[in-house]
Amino acid sequence: MGNRLVVRDVQAGYGAVRVLHGVSIEVNDAETVVLLGTNGNGKSTLIKCVLGIVRPDAGEIFLEVDGQRIDLVGKPPEEIVNLGVTLVPEGRRLFPKLTVEENLLLGAYRPGARRHIDRNLAFCFETFPILRSRRKQRAGSMSGGEQQMLAIGRALMAAPAILLVDEPSVGLAPVLVSRVIGKIKELKDRYQLTVLMAEQNFNQATKIADRGYIIVHGRIEFEGHSTRELSENELVKKYYLGV
Ligand SMILES: Nc1ncnc2c1ncn2[C@@H]1O[C@H](COP(=O)(O)OP(=O)(O)O)[C@@H](O)[C@H]1O
Ligand SMILES: [Mg+2]
Repeated sequence: MGNRLVVRDVQAGYGAVRVLHGVSIEVNDAETVVLLGTNGNGKSTLIKCVLGIVRPDAGEIFLEVDGQRIDLVGKPPEEIVNLGVTLVPEGRRLFPKLTVEENLLLGAYRPGARRHIDRNLAFCFETFPILRSRRKQRAGSMSGGEQQMLAIGRALMAAPAILLVDEPSVGLAPVLVSRVIGKIKELKDRYQLTVLMAEQNFNQATKIADRGYIIVHGRIEFEGHSTRELSENELVKKYYLGV
């Protein structure tokens, strides 16, 4: 099955404030693509456009599923989620008073996933054994790293065709960032998941990305066809590697 996400010339913002000035990116089947950008450059806004939370003023966003084009602009978020696009939001957005298991089950609400709850829950527990042993624990009482695993697990409950991950490293100690990033890599390697990840942690993101884009003030300033191309880029050296 082929899944591809295409964003073309997207302009978007909030009220009179334009944040994205003609952004184009593509994520091909089974690729992990990183959208690199420091704070406030429009990463989350772009992800929200893909999910239908922010409506672009111009441009196209579409999926290609087995060669068939499905336009996303104008569709409500529920419909986009039903098409298999799932978000691991910035800041995780768990329900802290609900248990781990309840949080996971809430990820399975899309009709296509409801039928496969048992299978997807087993898959989540296999990927994140910690979630199985903590299934009755309140989400809010877990550590930051565990909560990030839970947020990813919840997204997997929707059996996504395309996974959007918004800054998984935020607020985590370096050792936990490595663990979370390692898990995303495992999903990509074992299950050929298609992933678009927004990050500002260059070293961690490029551990798992196949390639990526650098967004600066709502414009794609550089496209690296490999992580090596990214690491050799002057913007990256200046802003991310401190060279
Ligand atoms: N809901 C909102 N209303 C108004 N401005 C917003 C809103 N969300 C984000 N912005 C602004 O849009 C710009 C890009 O933000 P964002 O997409 O969150 O960047 P990033 O995810 O790269 O940190 C920032 O200037 C931010 O203040
Ligand atoms: Mg953001």
